[in-house]
Amino acid sequence: MPRAILIAAFFLFASGATLVASADDRQFRLSVPDTLADSGLMKYMLPRFTLKTQVRVELVSPGQPAEAAFGDVGTPVFTGIGRTWSIEVISPDHKGASRFASWITDATGQSAITGFKVDGSQPFALPTEVEEVVEDISYDGDRLLGQQVSRVHCGRCHVTARGDESLGIGSTPSFFALRSFEDWDVRFAGFYLLKPHGAFTQIEDVTDPFPEDRPSPIAPVELTLDDIEAILAYVAGIEPAVLDAPIGHQ
Ligand code: HEC
Repeated sequence: MPRAILIAAFFLFASGATLVASADDRQFRLSVPDTLADSGLMKYMLPRFTLKTQVRVELVSPGQPAEAAFGDVGTPVFTGIGRTWSIEVISPDHKGASRFASWITDATGQSAITGFKVDGSQPFALPTEVEEVVEDISYDGDRLLGQQVSRVHCGRCHVTARGDESLGIGSTPSFFALRSFEDWDVRFAGFYLLKPHGAFTQIEDVTDPFPEDRPSPIAPVELTLDDIEAILAYVAGIEPAVLDAPIGHQ
């Protein structure tokens, strides 16, 4: 490459906020005050957003560089912990960040806010002007793929289909049992964040690599967001187990 072009390319890169932004459309930084981060709402809500949009969210503390922020400024989106929370899009050009701002005000985002429960009560509500929307969720993943992925990757521990009862590990809940939870879809959408999966699961473009000093203890489960969408579509169609007694009472 002629030197002049190399130098030009270097300056373009060095000053290239727009270049970097377009490469980063799939990820943005969200500023979240500690009280809100500690509530658990983000952990519940963000995997659903990531699953739907393939955009990954990195949480940062107020004061750090971010493309969007929860706080007093912007559009009010929910109330809880004694105040109203607004979303501010700091970088309106950032596709991922503006996608998040519109997601959190649409039916899916709103149901992720009101669906979050702690010990049976609902800590966050929609701002009073906004009518609650009952979401009609459709799972448009590939069911057949979901069945296969479940059998191959989850069937090492879970019974994932009728007729496969001899597979799986007895102490691990079957997919039928998990399907009977009211919020089964949230648990499946973010299963990689729930124990024990984090230690051995990698989701392409979403999870960080295993820490060097803690490699996966078993052959890792490696999936894409499409695979998870397919699993959700499959599990949506299976029959929930009828539990005779609430779990924990035997
Ligand atoms: C190495 C074993 C193993 C594999 C592989 C595995 N799981 Fe699990 N999973 C478990 C165990 C054990 C639990 C129960 C954890 C508990 O009760 O705390 C569980 C629980 C769950 C739950 C409920 C979590 C909760 O806390 O509500 C979901 C959803 C789930 N698994 C989905 C999956 C999916 C989807 C796959 C495949 C992509 C998978 N699991 C693969 C062992 C496994």
